[in-house]
Amino acid sequence: MGDRESGAAVTTVIFRVQRYAPEDGAGSRVVEYRVPVADGMTVLDGLIHVKERLDGSLSWRASCRMGICGSCGMWINGRPRLACQTQVAELGTGVVQVRPLPNFPVIRDLVPDLGSMIEKHRGIRPYLLRRDLDELERPTAEYTQTPADMERYVQFAYCIKCGCCMGACPTLATDVRYLGPQPLSQAHRYNADTRDDGFEERREVVSASAGVWRCHFAGECSEVCPKGVDPALAIQRVKRELVFHVLRLRRRPTPAPLAPPAAGLERRPGIPEPPPPTAGTL
Ligand code: FES
Repeated sequence: MGDRESGAAVTTVIFRVQRYAPEDGAGSRVVEYRVPVADGMTVLDGLIHVKERLDGSLSWRASCRMGICGSCGMWINGRPRLACQTQVAELGTGVVQVRPLPNFPVIRDLVPDLGSMIEKHRGIRPYLLRRDLDELERPTAEYTQTPADMERYVQFAYCIKCGCCMGACPTLATDVRYLGPQPLSQAHRYNADTRDDGFEERREVVSASAGVWRCHFAGECSEVCPKGVDPALAIQRVKRELVFHVLRLRRRPTPAPLAPPAAGLERRPGIPEPPPPTAGTL
């Protein structure tokens, strides 16, 4: 994209990219590419230039190119970042070093295997858990929530599962069993949701030996999170809830009630039925 027609000044930047191909059996190596960079160009744009113009064998993951899908998390000049959200100019250097996210096995080049994170995430049951099973299975209305209720968890709901926090976590680097900041922050996201009543079900997982007590509060996860989720804060809040629970000081919140039926509204013809509920049951 360096020779694009925008008229912006173009400089040449060295992309120093870690390459790995399992079929080579030779471990990883670093390959340099000279990439023409114009103002506004992101690291992902540079990688696309490499793939389209210089070396079609380079692999990475990306989809939305707008910081939403979480696919393009990688290690860029010393820290995990989203490649699509990182402008080359903001790095302030003529050399861009790119590696796959740390703390994950590498599938190929810049493509990490995030399977362990997804499994841990699944383990904290990242969905609403309720005791009114009939309503869960055959929903009749929405659960009500005030703006203040939403404020309690919405910041943590911005997680896009890019894995940057996991790649930055020094505890995870020394203990792969540790759940890590992504799953633990999502445990808090649901525990803090007034529509949820699953604290007891998640408690065993988050308080186990691989859970929150392994966190030494390095805070790197929150430093690198591209969405401002602040997983370190979430983990400390999970710890606080667990301590309150042990001291019998934790007040079980009243689950959000059902909204009253909407009056005077009829289903418009042609609107399809909603899909089956996805919320878990206890
Ligand atoms: Fe979707 Fe970067 S490509 S977050």
